[in-house]
Amino acid sequence: MRIIRTKNYQDMSQKAANVVFSTIILKPDCLLGLATGGTPVGMYQVLADRYVMGDLDFKSVKTVNLDEYVGLSEDHPQSYRYFMMENLFSKINIDRANTYLPNGLAEDSEAECENYEEVITKLGGVDLQVLGIGNNGHIGFNEPADVFDKQTHVVKLTENTRQANARFFDSIEQVPTDAITMGIKTIMKARAIILLASGEGKKEILKEALLGPITPKVPASVLQLHPNLIVVADEAALSLIPS
Ligand code: PGA
Repeated sequence: MRIIRTKNYQDMSQKAANVVFSTIILKPDCLLGLATGGTPVGMYQVLADRYVMGDLDFKSVKTVNLDEYVGLSEDHPQSYRYFMMENLFSKINIDRANTYLPNGLAEDSEAECENYEEVITKLGGVDLQVLGIGNNGHIGFNEPADVFDKQTHVVKLTENTRQANARFFDSIEQVPTDAITMGIKTIMKARAIILLASGEGKKEILKEALLGPITPKVPASVLQLHPNLIVVADEAALSLIPS
């Protein structure tokens, strides 16, 4: 595990963007695994800026996102497809046909999960997976559990996660109860993983995830086993982890 300590959110976003940048430079047709949430927004902005400056070309890049809410259409402002369009895809020259998210409106969610695994395999596997970490240690929507979930699957969101995400909706009742998420095994198959974290609010869970026991009660703790994990986090998030 490599830990890159940054001064603040902006610095984290810059350094994380540099890791994505180098992945694209080294492999222009790479498959990026992308995440939503507040944490990666700044990194996406830096990447979009570097595209505008002419430093970065996304024309052959492919992306798969970690997860999507069940029941929200692509044009729902809180769907993750919409988030990705707003924060990245509409700002860069990526081919929309090369951007994949689980279909939250699929009639058969289980079949959609299998289909999503196949898509990732057919695309050659994820070169770099971007992750945030939930307050409860979730990665993607893999919530604390008794066992590590393996493949892409449908998940019931915990109350904690629904409350954390309610800030994006008008009320908590509007937050979907289910999502489709890549599983822990899907995530761990990525050739490299970059975990982002920012702010005081993440310091306890980040310590548990990176230094605590490996347990499905803290899903992110499994990342300790990944051979190529890069943590890019700011001082506030890393304040309980000695340098
Ligand atoms: P956040 O969410 O980036 O909005 O803190 C992280 C997550 O839930 O994975």
